[in-house]
Amino acid sequence: MAYVLSQADARQVVLVMVVKRYLQWTSVKAEIFNVGKYRREGTPHPDAKFFDAGNPEGEKARKAAAEAAVADMINWLKDPSNKVAILDATNSTKTRRKWIYEKLEEAKVAHLFVESKCDDEELIMANILDVKTTSPDYVGQNPEEAAKDFRDRIKMYEKVYQTIDESEKQLTYVKVTNIGHQVVINRIQDYLQSRLVYFLTNLHIKPRSIWLSRHGESEYNLEGKIGGDANLSPRGFQYAKMLPELLRKSGLPKDAPLTIWTSTLKRTNQTAHHVVEELGWEKLQWKALDELDSGNCDGLTYAQIAEMHPEDFKARDDDKYNYRYRGGESYRDVVIRLEPIIMELERSENILIITHQAIVRCIFAYFMQVDQSQSPWMEVPLHTLMKLSPKAYGTQVEKYKANIPAVSTWRPQGSTAKHHEVGEASAVVGEDVAGDKSTVTKDVTVKVHE
Ligand code: F6P
Repeated sequence: MAYVLSQADARQVVLVMVVKRYLQWTSVKAEIFNVGKYRREGTPHPDAKFFDAGNPEGEKARKAAAEAAVADMINWLKDPSNKVAILDATNSTKTRRKWIYEKLEEAKVAHLFVESKCDDEELIMANILDVKTTSPDYVGQNPEEAAKDFRDRIKMYEKVYQTIDESEKQLTYVKVTNIGHQVVINRIQDYLQSRLVYFLTNLHIKPRSIWLSRHGESEYNLEGKIGGDANLSPRGFQYAKMLPELLRKSGLPKDAPLTIWTSTLKRTNQTAHHVVEELGWEKLQWKALDELDSGNCDGLTYAQIAEMHPEDFKARDDDKYNYRYRGGESYRDVVIRLEPIIMELERSENILIITHQAIVRCIFAYFMQVDQSQSPWMEVPLHTLMKLSPKAYGTQVEKYKANIPAVSTWRPQGSTAKHHEVGEASAVVGEDVAGDKSTVTKDVTVKVHE
């Protein structure tokens, strides 16, 4: 399927990246074909006049770039394992959309046009400053001037802009006005298209953060047992007590509301206790945030699993993402059950999630685009709070470590069944696993507050 962005507003870059991230996380292979990238090969730093429809040279160069991008996109889609191509361009006239539609029909490729329309000046300016001043078109330029030039570029588009409407009834499209205030859909025909529409209508661009933590150390963690529904250990209770302080240190939004999500298990609810008491935030329990179900291995240590079920132990090591415990789950299963959580997260503003090792890995992998072969192996230390702040070009991660010792529950691939010391991990959440656009800005250890 080709997913075609049909209107340029400042939100476009964010949309394209978030959609690709979402699709890849759900194992749908997606690729972006950015017409601007093709155009930059000939014209690296055009000013707004280049985008004037009355400028024949500019028009010619832009059409040539679009042709090259569409040809590459159709070619890429010939490989059956490639599922969704995202054509990232303005496509803001009926003629251009008709041309794309005919190309795709000819190639027997299903399409979805997405128009994101925004006439709220304040939102537009905020986004221009956030997104466009970091665009490759404006590298090295003064941000104010870049923002002004981009505003002028939008004016050029506006001169010829034709909104998608019922006169284009042959097109499959979704038109979102003012970030979800109004949504119009046309000819949505399959499950993937409906999922994308639902996802797109839930997105917002208000600044926000997601705080992510495992529960405090549990009695099962001390014994090296997996699964179960154990209580926190005394050190785990200490972490719970310290969590409000850790959250304050991480910088809480002043007036914006914050909600806590936990799993249904005792250890996450005990960890949330003081945050609810002291900060008065609302708490919601989600079954979907329960730990990966370890089926017939629930309650065993890794050493016992290696001894009692050596074949399963090896199979899990060989392909941890896909291995499903007998009577339990795989990481792939967990991602599927987390999809509503991600949808809800995209709709929400500030959320604190207190959950479990495997679940933190999957949520982190969504925001940081961590590969499936790597994500189940990331080390997620206990007693560490992460703050994820999605930005236009990636997600910023800050880590706040409570100075309360805890066992490590991490076991590297191909190792003996013993737990390893913190720091031996091949990939620690928030460090070397992040996608190239993501940043780790802080790594703070916070002392226990008496
Ligand atoms: O050991 C803690 C724990 O949360 C277990 O309950 C769970 O089975 C395990 O981590 C998940 O991690 P992994 O997939 O690395 O075994």
